[in-house]
Amino acid sequence: MADGFSLSDALSGAGNTNPNAPPNQGWPGGPWGNQPAGPGAYPGAPGAYPGAPGAYPGAPGAYPGAPGAYPGAPGAYPGAPGAYPGAPGAYPGAPPAPGQPPSGPGAPPTAPQFGPGFGSVPQPGGPTAPLRVPFDLPLQTGLVPRFLITIVGTVNPNPKRFSLDFKKGQDIAFHFNPRFSEETRPVIVCNSMIQNNWGKEERTAPRFPFEVGKPFKIHILCETDHFKVAVNDAHLLQFNYRLKNLNEITTLSIGGDISLTSVTPAMI
Ligand code: GAL
Repeated sequence: MADGFSLSDALSGAGNTNPNAPPNQGWPGGPWGNQPAGPGAYPGAPGAYPGAPGAYPGAPGAYPGAPGAYPGAPGAYPGAPGAYPGAPGAYPGAPPAPGQPPSGPGAPPTAPQFGPGFGSVPQPGGPTAPLRVPFDLPLQTGLVPRFLITIVGTVNPNPKRFSLDFKKGQDIAFHFNPRFSEETRPVIVCNSMIQNNWGKEERTAPRFPFEVGKPFKIHILCETDHFKVAVNDAHLLQFNYRLKNLNEITTLSIGGDISLTSVTPAMI
């Protein structure tokens, strides 16, 4: 990282222990190596994801100071409206996302420490309820370098494709699109769409890390001039910014043939 602060500064512990991981390409090491990514992972919950990066205090319903939030979490999402860093339960009155149960200050004490749309919701005594796909996550004041988003899910049976789209209005700044049945082999297509026109596709991923029916964890980190993507703790690819005004990229849309366990924004 250019300024010397990295996730590994915030997170103690060993580096990426994945023996198949290439040189880390600037990814912070640390305990996001080899985290379980399966259904039931509940980042931010006590005991889960120890050393997870900080909550996203500016996000609707984020609960930066609540139990389960990472104590001493790295910085808030700068300038986010409605942030109450350190307060018990930011953004009172934030509406739950469609299909998601309510959370926030009025929520029962067993409620997850995530606001609407930020994670799956464990049912009392039961399994974790997946988030509904397609899923839209508002990003409040948009992206900024050191913004990290972690997406945990499972590939459906007989998948064709899924996609993550970082959007500025109807434009797509970054389309990350794993395709399972493209021609002879699966491929990851990255692109942008500006004024309804797709740009030049980038198919540079050196491998296809997704498996039918298997859980996955995707990290997308905003760097100063590119998105950086890791899957299951190993660097996969980067995508240079084509839309330069990061702060105008205010939605992450997730769709396709996956079930979604959690979507967790943070600043590192
Ligand atoms: C198109 C496809 C879009 C998008 C785009 C990326 O062929 O219909 O959904 O994936 O490629 O370049």
